[in-house]
Amino acid sequence: ADIAVFASGTGTNFKAIHRDLTSDSRHRVSLLISDRKNSGALKFASENGIPAEFISYSNRSRQDAEQEILKYLAGSDVRLIVLAGFMKLLSPLIINAYPDRIINIHPSLLPRHPGTRGIEQSWESGDDYLGISIHYVDEGMDTGRIILQQAFHRSEVTSLEEAEKHIHQLEHYWYPRTIRSLLDSHENENGD
Ligand code: GRF
Repeated sequence: ADIAVFASGTGTNFKAIHRDLTSDSRHRVSLLISDRKNSGALKFASENGIPAEFISYSNRSRQDAEQEILKYLAGSDVRLIVLAGFMKLLSPLIINAYPDRIINIHPSLLPRHPGTRGIEQSWESGDDYLGISIHYVDEGMDTGRIILQQAFHRSEVTSLEEAEKHIHQLEHYWYPRTIRSLLDSHENENGD
């Protein structure tokens, strides 16, 4: 099946997903969407022949930007939309067009520490456990139904930098596997 990845940043999760999916030919990233022109994600897409679009959110409404995204999505048969460090919230326009088919990854044990500082806040909080969450996307900020979480005890790391490194390793391991298992279970349901 085809997936679309939305990424605004360095794109290390996008790279991990692409690398994993290209190890066989069952699934592929058929579209990369980024709202930042200089993102590592866009650069990687262009270097690797992955169709990619820069969607500007400035000087226009979110609806307008999302209409443009939907136009690109309509041109490909995308089974799953995968947010990987996409820094814009999605509105019902996209969410309702892809019910239960949009997922996100977040670097904390939700519902604790949603938002853009998940790792720092987890580290500073004194929580016993840190980790990652993969969840369906709704209109809220990191509020959708949880698909998978992976945790580790804070005693396994000694600094914020180490915590970040460990969290990213977990992300790069678990996000591709979760995507595969969602795509595979859908194909089994549909008998193909
Ligand atoms: C990841 O930590 C992810 O959990 C969060 O944004 C970050 C994206 O990092 N939603 P990268 O661009 O994939 O390296």
